[in-house]
Amino acid sequence: MTTPTDALSPEVLLAEARQAAANAHSPYSGWRVGAAAVFAETGSHVFRGANVENGSYGLTICAERSAICAAVVAGGRRLERIAITCRDAGGHLIAKIAPCGACLQVIAEFGTADTEIVIDGRGGFRLADFLPRPFEADTLKSHGG
Ligand code: THU
Repeated sequence: MTTPTDALSPEVLLAEARQAAANAHSPYSGWRVGAAAVFAETGSHVFRGANVENGSYGLTICAERSAICAAVVAGGRRLERIAITCRDAGGHLIAKIAPCGACLQVIAEFGTADTEIVIDGRGGFRLADFLPRPFEADTLKSHGG
């Protein structure tokens, strides 16, 4: 059986993320970040996200979280792979980018230690590479939360 992650290679997802980055709303940083995510429940559908900045800077939403929120609204719950691309205001690829702490925790909510994080120009990683010991929602349940 073909799984979504088989059908959607890292390169295919990166291409989707690059297209999403074109729609970034980033008048403050100038960075265009795009993300593309696939979930188990939604088959080969690719959910795109881009960073959405705000004049009240702290309200900025990263590309990763915007893609994940779009997927969750469509019924996605098990995140399999997410690809990320970032260019600075001059259009240069920022290969050194990594999901911020908030995005890693949101990825952990819907992923596993093995969820793939593909970064344009940098390569493929697992969530555990960036966030080895996430706060786990199960901890809430086991302690009456
Ligand atoms: N940003 C993302 O969208 N994803 C990341 O992984 C890191 C940073 C955005 C937030 C802000 O709009 C800009 O990049 C600069 O921090």
